[in-house]
Amino acid sequence: MNFEHIPVLLREAVDGLNIKEDGIYVDGTLGGAGHSIEIVKRLTGGKLIGIDQDLNAITKAKEVLKDDLDNVILVHDNYVNIENILSDLHIEKVDGILLDIGVSSHQLDEEERGFSYHKDAPLDMRMDKTKDFTAWDVVNKYSERELERIIWDYGEERWAKRIAEFIVDERKVKPIDTTLQLVDVIKAAIPKKVRMEGHHPGKKTFQAIRIEVNGELDVLKASIPKMCRLLNKGGRIAIITFHSLEDRIVKETFKELNKDCICPPEIPICVCDKEKEIEIITRKPIVPTKIEIERNPRSRSSKLRIAERV
Ligand SMILES: C[S@@+](CC[C@H](N)C(=O)[O-])C[C@H]1O[C@@H](n2cnc3c(N)ncnc32)[C@H](O)[C@@H]1O
Repeated sequence: MNFEHIPVLLREAVDGLNIKEDGIYVDGTLGGAGHSIEIVKRLTGGKLIGIDQDLNAITKAKEVLKDDLDNVILVHDNYVNIENILSDLHIEKVDGILLDIGVSSHQLDEEERGFSYHKDAPLDMRMDKTKDFTAWDVVNKYSERELERIIWDYGEERWAKRIAEFIVDERKVKPIDTTLQLVDVIKAAIPKKVRMEGHHPGKKTFQAIRIEVNGELDVLKASIPKMCRLLNKGGRIAIITFHSLEDRIVKETFKELNKDCICPPEIPICVCDKEKEIEIITRKPIVPTKIEIERNPRSRSSKLRIAERV
């Protein structure tokens, strides 16, 4: 098993947290602990809480952080449960929270997880293997319309309609059980000339199905306000996304939390009681340098946004 994962926007994200050496920090997407280890290096007397819904990531992180385990608490859970996670640890507020959304290289490398369109495996794609809902359910049970919607929205795949049609036709013959079976169906749906250009033809559809299986957008949307409210004054949240829909969620949610009045303009006096909860530190998202993209092509679509609790 190869767990090599190059952390994306590492310096930018960790610097952006403005780490206080005795502060409490949360890495909600621990993965290979690439960001966490940098945070821990900057702590003296502080604590890092590392959360991942993938038990394999927790095991790996334990190894990577082995010299600092006294300052680290690792939790196998979904970051959407952050309120309960912190209250179980008797922690009321923290000084910084990092999210680095998406799939890790180690998850792609683990053949049997079904994340990769290069390796044949059962259609799975669960980040949390204790859950029941898998890619098989999406591919074999969703209606043609639902398939088209997720492939179009989450994959930004312009051939979504044909791919959904071809999946449903194939299902009438036999269930689509494996990743490479699905790749064959996708290839048949996309005209050969288009297939020969650019990325692997399965890339966008696989991304869409993974986002659906793990409820990634809903979880992100629900988590940002809770996370901001768990920050001490001056505490920061830094979020790295890889997909335009994810980035839009972060941008819009930050904007909402930044408003101190949401009354309609025709009302002369504010009656809404809304208070500004955060200051937005990055008006425009931070993106990787050319050098980073060359060194780590996975970073190409990444965007980092940072906000500070007021
Ligand atoms: C891109 S990787 C993080 C890599 C890490 N920052 C590093 O540099 O090593 C994303 C990780 O977050 C985890 N993850 C994604 N969504 C999650 C969620 N809602 N709750 C907890 N963990 C999640 C995945 O299982 C994966 O291990």
